[in-house]
Parts: sequence; structure tokens; C-alpha cells
Amino acid sequence: TRSLLGLKELSQQEIQSILDRAAYWEQHPSKTHNLLNGKFVANMFFENSTRTRTSFEVAEKRLGAEVINFSAAASSVEKGESIYDTVRTLESMGIDAGVIRLKPVGMLAEIAEKIQVPLINAGDGNNEHPTQALLDLYTMQKHFGTVQGLKVAIIGDILHSRVARSNLYALRKFGASVVFCAPDNMRAAELNAPYVSMEEAIQADVVMMLRVQLERHATGMLKSAESYRASYGLTVERAQQMQEHAIIMHPAPVNRNVEIDSELVEAPNSKIFPQMANGVPIRMAVVERALS
Ligand code: CP
Repeated sequence: TRSLLGLKELSQQEIQSILDRAAYWEQHPSKTHNLLNGKFVANMFFENSTRTRTSFEVAEKRLGAEVINFSAAASSVEKGESIYDTVRTLESMGIDAGVIRLKPVGMLAEIAEKIQVPLINAGDGNNEHPTQALLDLYTMQKHFGTVQGLKVAIIGDILHSRVARSNLYALRKFGASVVFCAPDNMRAAELNAPYVSMEEAIQADVVMMLRVQLERHATGMLKSAESYRASYGLTVERAQQMQEHAIIMHPAPVNRNVEIDSELVEAPNSKIFPQMANGVPIRMAVVERALS
């Protein structure tokens, strides 16, 4: 199958071919195509989402697929049905591909081994978020022409971030250098990237801020929003010290005035909303790849 479970195992060529196909779809902006007419794609979200779920739906509809939006909260998951049994149920009804977001790390790989239809990872716990990193790479390539040689600083809650992991795996394959910046209790010991000070991080070509993921925190991890902002937030003052050519990125949702000042979200050097726009052609390329 043409599943996409993560970027760790994908080659640079495979990733580039997805980015190239996304560029094709961006250059062919007519609202709908009939490439996937008659194909059924199920979006199965066992964790909340705005951007990923909606942009997959837009992407699938633009390709002409039939879309089934499965919401765990309104399903028999509430009666205790497992994620595996839920996916198996939809497969037995004849879906052609599934997009899935879930919390438990490792479960997606297990399910993918038992399921025949291709599965696309829309975020699994703190493991990977491959389509987010693809749209991030796409955004960087579009802005800088190439990712090779870029210095990318990923700042914030690295410990809980699947975005940091997928970006680290992919950016390295493309010859970018990745540094992290995080308070001690938000670092991920198993990831092999150097931690730098905030002063150094904001000198990178790409300043990628991460959301403080309060819903995944043990109590007491964040002393206060104000103290976090003071030490690790991209404030207006810090943004003024960035290089002229540098860009701000953030996967969103954003905690305004915690990890990034509200005024910076739509600043001229911010790619936060362009990242979301780029999510559609990226997901068109990924869904097409799964079904072709
Ligand atoms: N960036 C991202 O994955 O956003 P959602 O959680 O809203 O999908």
C-alpha cells in the first residue's frame, strides 16, 4: 500500500516527489478535478483538529473523492470500541484510504500492518505529523528556493511535538541544519539535535515556534504564561533582532502572547497562514499518492 506513516523512513527523493506534485496542484487551482471519482476516503480523527482535518477534506474533495468524516466523539468509540476495531469497521465497508489522527504512539504502525487500505498519518501522539512537516518544507522551498544549507531553529515544547520530530527527520535529509531551543522540562533527550539559547535561535533563517501543548502536560510544567513568554516567547523585541531575510513559522493553533506575540502572527515575515494554505496542495499530493 501507499501509506504515509512518517517521514523518518522516506527518502529525500520520495519526499521531493510529493513536494513537486503539490507544486503541480498549486499551479492548477481549479476548484475540483475528477481524478479520484468513485474513491472513498475516511478521515478518522481520534484527537481534535481544525487545520489538518479540514485541509484533508478540501484536498480530497478537490480531487473528486467521496469523503467520510468520522468523528470519534459521535461514534461507538464512546461505548468503548477500540481504534483498531473502528478502522477495521470502515475498511469492511469499502473505504479506499484512511486518514487517521490518534494519541497512542506505536498504534498506527500496528494497525497499518493489519489493514489492507493505505493509511495516512494525520498526527500520532508525539511521534510524527508527516503532512505538517511536508507543508513546512514546501513553504521553506517556496520562500528560499532550496532548503539545503538553511538553519532552522525549532523553539518550544519539543518534548510533546510530533511536528518537531517530523521536521527534524525531513530537514536533515535535505541538508538543512536543525537546532532546538526549549526549557529543560520540554526537551526530548532521544532526539539528536543541539539545544541553543534563545538569542542564538532567533538568528536562524527559519524561526519555527511551537505551541505549548498544555493538554499533554503533567500539572506544574508551565509556571506561568508570562514567564514562558519572557524566556522562550517570540516577542516583538526578539523578532526585531531576526535576520532581514528570515521567516517566522508555527504549525498552529497558536497561543497568542505565550509562545508568539499576537502582532507577529500576521507580520510580513510570518508564514503562519501561508503554511495553512500550502497544506491543501500537500495533502492533495499525499492522498493522490495513496490511491494511485
Ligand atoms: N497544525 C495542526 O496540525 O493543526 P490542527 O491540530 O488544527 O490540525
